[in-house]
Amino acid sequence: MKNPFTVTGYAGAKYFCDREEETKKIISAVENGRNIVLYSIRRLGKTQLIKHVFSSLGKNKKYITVYLDIYHTRDLKSFTQSFAEAVFSALTTNPASILEKAAKVLSNLRVALSFDPFSGKTILTFDIKTPQESEATLRKIFEHISAQKKQVVVAIDEFQQVSLYPEDTTEALLRSFMSECTNASFIFSGSVNHLLISMFASANRPFYQSAEMLRLQKIETAVYARFAKRLFNSKGTNLPLSLATECIQWCRNHTYFVQRLFNRLYSLPVEEITGDVIQRTKNELLLEAEPVFNDYVNFYTQFQWKLLSAVAKEDGAQSVYSTEFINKYELGSTSSVRTALQSLIRRDAIYEEDNKYFVADLFFSRWLEMKIR
Ligand SMILES: Nc1ncnc2c1ncn2[C@@H]1O[C@H](COP(=O)(O)OP(=O)(O)OP(=O)(O)O)[C@@H](O)[C@H]1O
Ligand SMILES: [Mg+2]
Repeated sequence: MKNPFTVTGYAGAKYFCDREEETKKIISAVENGRNIVLYSIRRLGKTQLIKHVFSSLGKNKKYITVYLDIYHTRDLKSFTQSFAEAVFSALTTNPASILEKAAKVLSNLRVALSFDPFSGKTILTFDIKTPQESEATLRKIFEHISAQKKQVVVAIDEFQQVSLYPEDTTEALLRSFMSECTNASFIFSGSVNHLLISMFASANRPFYQSAEMLRLQKIETAVYARFAKRLFNSKGTNLPLSLATECIQWCRNHTYFVQRLFNRLYSLPVEEITGDVIQRTKNELLLEAEPVFNDYVNFYTQFQWKLLSAVAKEDGAQSVYSTEFINKYELGSTSSVRTALQSLIRRDAIYEEDNKYFVADLFFSRWLEMKIR
């Protein structure tokens, strides 16, 4: 293990911080045949938590785990394709048998297999032409899941995409197939919270109350600090708990950014992490990203930029419509703040948590804060 602070995929339980309660909760839901909706702001650790749960379930031969990320899917056909790939890949590891199995189950379709040279992933393609064919194909895949002797756990990441498909019967269709599949439980995960939550919380939607809602929270500072100290110890570097705490808080306990900072600190050839080292590293990270942040000017209007800076400066802006806030940052009127804020939230540039607003990209937030000091 080169650097134990991973910033990409799941590297195993040893390098995974906490999430014990959440892991237990999801496993209990799976064991008892309940579905779960896992949601949070972006980059907090939903996907890695699913991987962690699956790694734990994988040790038990009772389960078949299926993971798919449908962020890139745009319609029922592409969903069906991703779903088929994930299901058939989970049932067998050998590419030839994936094709054989898929061809057998989906006997009415011409099925072909290829590889994505970048990800090394198996790609199944079949000649679906109409929504009816997608529906028939999905039915067969769900029947195939039902035919398994083991319990199947299906995690569909970025599930909110389904609500954006042009075929507006997709939710009803999936809900009905899923409820017939009694040996399967489902984990629906996503970060576009308003889309995902309204799928499960609106009485007139097919998925209404069909799953338990689990909102992923930030990892507790003390737990994260002990985890970091332990990993630094393993290479003989001392990271005092008080400084680990400072790092985590500077990153607002936002997992991805905490990992980025610790990853960088870990790579330094020092025996002791001091306040100075941390300060230099933070500055380095912000300066490295500066060309990208400067380019953001082209993505936002001047007013949106001003509001982003104000929210960054407050680092948890509470009363954004108050005269005090508007005057302090010369933001003009409540209505222009509202319009800009809504647009920035829609674009994932700002998120709301406990009635406070934050700039979502922590490093961008800290950089803006530094610029207007
Ligand atoms: N418990 C953890 N311990 C250590 N690192 C973690 C943990 N959870 C997540 N990470 C790290 O944080 C990063 C973001 O995690 P992940 O991709 O799971 O977030 P996400 O909530 O799925 O984000 P998005 O909404 O963008 O899909 C990952 O690069 C991962 O390495
Ligand atoms: Mg994710």
